[in-house]
Amino acid sequence: MQIMTHPRLIPTLFFLFGILCLNPLAAQIYRPSKGIELRVNALLAKMTLDEKIGQLTLYTTDWGSTGPTIREGYKNDIRSGACGNLFNSHTTLFVRELQKVAVEETRLKIPLLFGFDVIHGYKTIFPIPLGEAASWDLEAIEKSARVSAVEATAAGLNWTFAPMVDIGRDPRWGRVMEGAGEDPYLGSRIAEARVRGFQGKKLGDPDAMLACVKHFAGYGAPIGGRDYNTVDMSERYFRDFYLPTYEAAVRAGAATVMTSFNDYDGVPASGNKFLLDNILRKEWGFEGFVVTDYTSINEMVNHGVVANDKEAGELALNAGVDMDMQGAVYQRFLSQSLKEGKVSQAQIDEGVRRILRLKFELGLFEDPYKYCDAEREKKSLLAPEHRAAAREVARKSIVLLKNERQALPLSKSQKIVLIGPLGDNKSELNGNWNGAGNADDCVSLREGLANVDRTNFMYIPGCDFENPDKSGFADAIRAAEKYDVFVVAVGEKAMMSGEAAARALLGLPGVQEELVLELCKTGKPVVVVLMNGRPLAIPEIAEKATAILETWWLGTETGNAIADVLYGVYNPSGKLPMSFPRSVGQVPIFYNEKSTGRPFDPNSKWTSKYIDEANSPQWPFGFGLSYTTFEYREPKVIAAVTAKTALTVSVTLTNTGKLPGEEVAQLYVRDLVGSVTRPVKELKGFQKIMLQPGETREVKFTPTEHDLSFYRRDMTFGTEPGEYEIMVGGNSQELKKVKVKL
Ligand code: NOJ
Repeated sequence: MQIMTHPRLIPTLFFLFGILCLNPLAAQIYRPSKGIELRVNALLAKMTLDEKIGQLTLYTTDWGSTGPTIREGYKNDIRSGACGNLFNSHTTLFVRELQKVAVEETRLKIPLLFGFDVIHGYKTIFPIPLGEAASWDLEAIEKSARVSAVEATAAGLNWTFAPMVDIGRDPRWGRVMEGAGEDPYLGSRIAEARVRGFQGKKLGDPDAMLACVKHFAGYGAPIGGRDYNTVDMSERYFRDFYLPTYEAAVRAGAATVMTSFNDYDGVPASGNKFLLDNILRKEWGFEGFVVTDYTSINEMVNHGVVANDKEAGELALNAGVDMDMQGAVYQRFLSQSLKEGKVSQAQIDEGVRRILRLKFELGLFEDPYKYCDAEREKKSLLAPEHRAAAREVARKSIVLLKNERQALPLSKSQKIVLIGPLGDNKSELNGNWNGAGNADDCVSLREGLANVDRTNFMYIPGCDFENPDKSGFADAIRAAEKYDVFVVAVGEKAMMSGEAAARALLGLPGVQEELVLELCKTGKPVVVVLMNGRPLAIPEIAEKATAILETWWLGTETGNAIADVLYGVYNPSGKLPMSFPRSVGQVPIFYNEKSTGRPFDPNSKWTSKYIDEANSPQWPFGFGLSYTTFEYREPKVIAAVTAKTALTVSVTLTNTGKLPGEEVAQLYVRDLVGSVTRPVKELKGFQKIMLQPGETREVKFTPTEHDLSFYRRDMTFGTEPGEYEIMVGGNSQELKKVKVKL
């Protein structure tokens, strides 16, 4: 390990600290366009109290729901001005019909916003966000969001409830599928890319839609991984690990923010002034609007912080919530609360202003039907270039977890038998939150393989997802006599992850694991293709299978993307965005933990460890193999401070294998002695690099002052002088180190 000291750096860095923009993206934060305020105020002046409250109200249509319907009859509410925004209504036909009521039958003709969960695609479905995160390819992820917005806006929508940026360290929590995994740095970069993708160049463009950062805040840390459960941790921990992704998305220009269902520090998020006002609005300068999650104002009664819905509405508005999703609380009680002086007219007006501003930004007043062109809709949905983009991201999202006996890539001369409930399945491939995607539009794995070679393969189901019936095993095992390789597609059903889909067990459901292990006994290579929405704990499969591909839920182009990787048309380059545990007892498990006073020592009982399980995960954060190999030389710190970077680290990377391939080179840092305990490593840079066989490249990382900053003992954010360990490598466990003194 090389130690480099640069005393010269110290004064320079601290001088620069004052000047450097703490948040390099601050310039892109959403700010209302010039001229809009006059229009907003003119309209506001004409509005009755009920019409104002209508703008603060959002209802679902009968096309979908994720909770109760408190109030029926949304069409009448639009007509009377009591509902100013809708969700779960899409297609140009339906949106036109509803928008017409708003702009032709209401007194003030204020157009509606149309929201929908366009999470990983509208009609062309991309990989689930956790899968896309495994690509570590920001361009591809931005493109995925862009295509999603192009399709969604062609189908009437102007607001997506995405990106979901909740940090997920607990795979029991089903919603990890919707986020970018466990790391705040990777998560932040992905959050920015997705906001840019959804919102496009300018909100007024016909293919731009409002992004909605969710779920603010800390929704990914429910106790026990159980959805909606309590979240509690120190403010320092919250700021270090959970808040950065929301901040990054806001600073990248996200126009709206959704509150979360959980409480934080004893106060439900939808009534949490500290979160919504102090942090979001005052600290970060957010100027868009805040919407609640589904009936989460009403749920504050169950949380036990208010006695009834009316009080819940007051708490929410006073905390900074602008729009009530589906709870009908503002609509039923806000005027009474105003009369009683429990809320102020100024607060109501400010909420309405925030919403109207964005309706003006979108250009809805100029043309309320701008997203309702049926021709455009027809041309856009599932356009060949959209499917091509989906296939590209899908293959980049696949992670090769194991590859023994060079089982992969397959060759066309091998006879392949495809086995497992997901081998010939379409219904699950779009995963959860699949927009308006149709299972029928998906390419199954069976079809994908047949697209490569129809002659040398056959399919045998073997078993079902959850059914304990093992009668199909015998046929599958017998296939070993005639075929060269088993490709076994196993995993979860799509609805086993996502909202309200926490799991206490993290193995494969049903008898799938048994099937895989039986096939392993035949001695033929067993290539396991996993499809699932969360990290699984599958230690026996990890040990016995010959090769394992993590393919998540890849969406419309699933079969083609997996076949590309199986046959080596595409050399896998994905890296895990979340640690995979060996057993549920290790959960939550994540790489950026702190040291403890008794760090793990295999030779000492009195250190932090389990007596019946390893500390390490099955596969660590950042891990993923390739069909080629890469070698890292010792990293070097280059002693240069620029206006934008705190230091420059360089490492030499070589493709030492026989195939071209992409490597995600990762940079981690550790502040060795801080005024507060710091993680043993934190990702602070990554680059995805294509190298030809034998090619060598010098890779440079330039972490900024902001990257090395943290909440110090006195809760100010910044760096501290001292020694840092800088680590570089291809995953969070195998790293080469150098020390530097700042
Ligand atoms: C509840 C979910 O938590 C949220 O993510 C989603 O956007 C809303 N329902 C609307 O469907």
